[in-house]
Amino acid sequence: MILVTGGAGFIGANFVIDWLAATGDPVVNLDKLTYAGNLENLATMKGDPRHIFVRGDIGDSALVDRLLAEHQPRAIINFAAESHVDRSIHGPGDFIQTNVVGTYHLLESVRGYWSALPEAEKAAFRFLHVSTDEVYGSLAADDPPFAETKAFEPNSPYSASKAASDHLVRAWHHTYGLPVLTTNCSNNYGPYQFPEKLIPLVIANALAGKPLPIYGDGMNVRDWLYVSDHCAAIRRVLEAGRPGETYNIGGWNEMPNLDIVHTICALLDELRPDAAGPHARLITYVKDRPGHDRRYAIDARRIERELGWRPAETFETGIRKTVAWYLDNQAWVGHVTSGAYRDWVGRNYGDRA
Ligand code: NAD
Ligand code: TYD
Repeated sequence: MILVTGGAGFIGANFVIDWLAATGDPVVNLDKLTYAGNLENLATMKGDPRHIFVRGDIGDSALVDRLLAEHQPRAIINFAAESHVDRSIHGPGDFIQTNVVGTYHLLESVRGYWSALPEAEKAAFRFLHVSTDEVYGSLAADDPPFAETKAFEPNSPYSASKAASDHLVRAWHHTYGLPVLTTNCSNNYGPYQFPEKLIPLVIANALAGKPLPIYGDGMNVRDWLYVSDHCAAIRRVLEAGRPGETYNIGGWNEMPNLDIVHTICALLDELRPDAAGPHARLITYVKDRPGHDRRYAIDARRIERELGWRPAETFETGIRKTVAWYLDNQAWVGHVTSGAYRDWVGRNYGDRA
């Protein structure tokens, strides 16, 4: 049994689905079901007794203590977080509450449970914390990519809150001996990503004939990691990573935002042509994000050298699968973007024109 937190969100849901397919081992899935968590992401596991869903907060110590005592997991994978940079700019409070305070409470619950385990189980136990490359800050065009030794220089409320959580996880290892693993990955993309992030937003807007908003000059660079590659990397780190160690996970796919958007437009022109003209006609430059990090890039050589993991997808293969998934799952997009999503679009894009 493992306990996954945030498993109704984008990466967590992909992880749970892939985990059951790859290992068959049962999962308790603890998720608060914020706007970003959707039970529809877990629909393929409905009725599967190996998947137990519990709605709740990682900061609810009484609940987490009870779940740990009841299910006796051999590992925790912590995905639960507030994850969107633009939302952290509009309202940082939830980011501090979940990413910092919530992680602290979770660590304390896990420490209490772990310290009472028999010696063999204690040694085999793992707490894997899923974090981001954004903790490392922003790179200039000719800087080397982020290695695990790079000092943290977070620039947004989101990345600062994730950096704080990484520090807590590190401290719980050094001080209390908790067997932790931390992963810092680049931008994920793939099925079930909430359409507030660049790739699903551009697909959804292009299909609806709406503007494709490009912040600033569109030349900010991200590294893009296909979500199932990320899930495989996490399984590998859990299996063979050294406690106390950090592993950077990347896709070896650095690209400027504008290239991402043009690639999506070309795929949609091929798969779902629009009589009104090429989808790229919808590209619209809008006011930049405050403090917008210029470039992220991951040096993923440690995980390859020590654990033998490399991404299986290139950007070309991954983005084709992703666009095809969104075309086949328009009902999912319709459901998750009803209601509160519209308020968010108004708040984030209303004053950028
Ligand atoms: P997401 O926003 O899609 O999902 C987050 C999930 O956590 C949601 O289901 C939400 O309901 C749940 N959650 C939020 N607060 C909670 C709380 N207090 N208690 C329990 N559950 C809570 O995020 P994602 O994109 O799947 O990201 C998962 C993790 O990976 C996050 O920690 C994020 O920082 C990290 N990460 C994401 C990316 C990316 O590109 N998406 C890149 C690097 C790192
Ligand atoms: P995003 O998907 O929000 O991920 P992150 O900020 O965590 O990297 O954004 C990816 C890049 O795309 C980032 O440089 C901001 C940019 N972007 C736009 O240009 N327009 C948009 O509407 C969004 C959401 C993002």
